[in-house]
Amino acid sequence: MTARVLVTGAGGPAGVAVIRSLLRRSDLEVFAADMDGWASGIYLVPSTHRRLVPPGRDEDFVPAISRMVAEDRLDLVISTVDVELIALAGRRDELAPAVLAAPSQDTLSVALDKLLLAERCEATGRTPRTVLAGADAVAVDWEFPVFAKPRQGAGSRGIRLVPDRAALEALPLDEGLIVQDYLPGEEYSVDVIADAAGEVIAAVPRTRARVDSGVAIAGRTVHDPELEETAAAVAKAIGLVGVANVQLRRDREGRAVLLEVNPRFPGALPLTIAAGVDIPSLVADLFLGRELPSSIAFREIASVRFLEDVIVEVDEVLVSEHAGHQEEL
Ligand SMILES: Nc1ncnc2c1ncn2[C@@H]1O[C@H](COP(=O)(O)OP(=O)(O)O)[C@@H](O)[C@H]1O
Ligand SMILES: [Mg+2]
Repeated sequence: MTARVLVTGAGGPAGVAVIRSLLRRSDLEVFAADMDGWASGIYLVPSTHRRLVPPGRDEDFVPAISRMVAEDRLDLVISTVDVELIALAGRRDELAPAVLAAPSQDTLSVALDKLLLAERCEATGRTPRTVLAGADAVAVDWEFPVFAKPRQGAGSRGIRLVPDRAALEALPLDEGLIVQDYLPGEEYSVDVIADAAGEVIAAVPRTRARVDSGVAIAGRTVHDPELEETAAAVAKAIGLVGVANVQLRRDREGRAVLLEVNPRFPGALPLTIAAGVDIPSLVADLFLGRELPSSIAFREIASVRFLEDVIVEVDEVLVSEHAGHQEEL
């Protein structure tokens, strides 16, 4: 039976990759949506299947998706955007009869708060010491430099190296900063998919050789049991069901430890798919209640990325009030 799937965030690299993956399946009918009519991924699907949605922060966002579920008789809703995920996960019942392909609200809120995340994952033995800036941080006997970043940051905004104790004591207290052991080693992103029982089916580590606007645009996958097991342990600790991108970095002893978890599809998805783990397709099966394999192997492979223009008739361009990304900045 054909399932009808809506993918939102069609303008982002993750949205485009998810749409492309799902279009390869003959048993899925794909609808593509974004808040911006200029979002490229919208034009990957037939004109009858293109949709505009309000911004994820808008009060009408969830009701609008819920109306779309009824009008388009959707079975599954996949969002590739953080703010949308939070809004949807808190009100997933309103999407019935469609299913929301997202981790639980608890998993999302832990992942999006780097202090809660470090606390929740402490038992894995793979977290850097992490405390709130201020009295808690001053009380610790750190090895300097240390690292500070917003507990709810994204896209590397507000990050800083703290060279000494004087700088630590001078950190602002109104930015929700956390202070962490400095991790001088290599950084990896591990794309993880866990099944309905929270069992990890695949954990694919990759390097971020080149990064553009926070998205890895070139890199390679690597077989490394330590990275794979660490990411899987983190996924278990936060109760992940579905996809997340676990970022790890090597500490002063060379051990891989947790930087953060992005509880959504990564923009570098085409690399992970090419390595043998078609995460969007697995996520669709998972949330449609279909059986998944218990584990999937991947191979080492590399990717680079170039831009491509998609030509459409002027009257085909959907007219939206909202420009993409502006609100995110
Ligand atoms: N403890 C740390 N030690 C060294 N570098 C860090 C540390 N934490 C973060 N960074 C650097 O800052 C970047 C952004 O931090 P991250 O935790 O990934 O937050 P976000 O991507 O949400 O801004 C990382 O990619 C890494 O380069
Ligand atoms: Mg990051």
